[in-house]
Amino acid sequence: MTETTKNSTTPESPGTLAGIVARFETPETLITASRAVRDAGFRRWDAHSPMPVHGLDEAMGIRLTILPFIVLVAGLTGGAVGLLMQWYTNAVDYPQIISGKPLFSLPANIPVVFELVVLFSALTTFAGALLLSGLPQWFHGLFANRAFHRVTSDAFFISIDARDAKFHENEVRRLLESQGAVSIDSYYDPIKERQIPTLIYWAVAILVVLAPIPVLLIAWAREVPSSRPRLTLFMDMDVQPKYKAQNESPLFVDNREERPQVPGSVPRGRLDNDTKFVYGKEGDNWVRTFPESVPVNLETMQRGRERFTIYCAPCHGQSGDGDGLVSARASQRMEANWVPPVQLYATAVRFQPVGQLFGTISNGVRKMPAYGSQIPPADRWAIVLYLQALQRSQSGTVDDLPEEVRKKIAAH
Ligand code: HEC
Repeated sequence: MTETTKNSTTPESPGTLAGIVARFETPETLITASRAVRDAGFRRWDAHSPMPVHGLDEAMGIRLTILPFIVLVAGLTGGAVGLLMQWYTNAVDYPQIISGKPLFSLPANIPVVFELVVLFSALTTFAGALLLSGLPQWFHGLFANRAFHRVTSDAFFISIDARDAKFHENEVRRLLESQGAVSIDSYYDPIKERQIPTLIYWAVAILVVLAPIPVLLIAWAREVPSSRPRLTLFMDMDVQPKYKAQNESPLFVDNREERPQVPGSVPRGRLDNDTKFVYGKEGDNWVRTFPESVPVNLETMQRGRERFTIYCAPCHGQSGDGDGLVSARASQRMEANWVPPVQLYATAVRFQPVGQLFGTISNGVRKMPAYGSQIPPADRWAIVLYLQALQRSQSGTVDDLPEEVRKKIAAH
């Protein structure tokens, strides 16, 4: 027997017997010995080698891990949780119709379901692999055996756990000896110094005691009925003198907390004294020419085209046909109340004075909403200018062609 054997069995390393470890010279003997240990019916034992040994798993009789099945169950649970959560939040707890879509439909829920399947499976794989291998473990008796340290360089071992039902010290030794073990040692449960330091026990205990405090504080702040403000960590954010929208205020005679604009007040630079520019009217009549302050040039028209594309095209369509996206969608859904937008180059619109077009944008017309509050007057005029170009593009005559082209046509 080696020196190590004497060391590990001396009275200096007391503790209960944790198992027996035997060293073998070659991978071949390790395999035959493993087969013998397996056939002897041991279950709590292991073979150790510095490199992968082909056929060892088979010799040991290692069966497939059940981890994949655990992960499968976890993944399915994740998917079910994702689906239920979305169904509950979207279809039950806070149903809200968005763009006429159904409250609950499978395709829309796939991304979250997928994410939760991955999340649950990944966490389960991680924790499962650790737990199934008996980790985390602070220390193992084998590490106290000096000879065993060679397992990472040039030695092969079989260790048999003393907790195995078939474990009888002498029989185990005899078995391993008969398989050609070059040394056989007992190893012991970790002695006191090798157990988890009390400091860590205390730290964990204190954390466990403290952990519920934030949750309890939140629960208390939410639930305890009191006339005083709730428990607040950031006083300046929660408790501040302010009115929330659409509440009452005793400060004013009409008890309204939100104040209407003071009649007759004019924001700086917004004095609407140019009625032609602001209303498109002179007296009671729509103006027929652009106001002086609107430059009728290419730049204005391009601005008008840009604004038209933003504000008008969704209904009226890019070329004013009345086939914009909103309108197309409404007719696709056969919305009974939808009035199709007017064709902007229709005769009834084409000969309208510019002031009237301006008025339509500002105040809306019949079913069309007003855009005066969204589009400033200068931009409204720019849109009108572009609108005229648009109308012209749809109602061209021979007279619109260049001189020479007209001559050619006449010659024919
Ligand atoms: C929300 C959809 C919608 C938008 C956006 C919209 N319109 Fe209209 N517009 C309509 C509808 C609908 C009508 C027809 C109303 C009716 O006949 O009741 C209409 C009618 C008109 C008319 C014809 C008025 C008349 O005298 O018959 C003009 C001109 C017009 N729109 C210009 C514009 C311009 C310019 C814009 C962009 C600033 C715009 N519209 C934005 C829906 C829209």
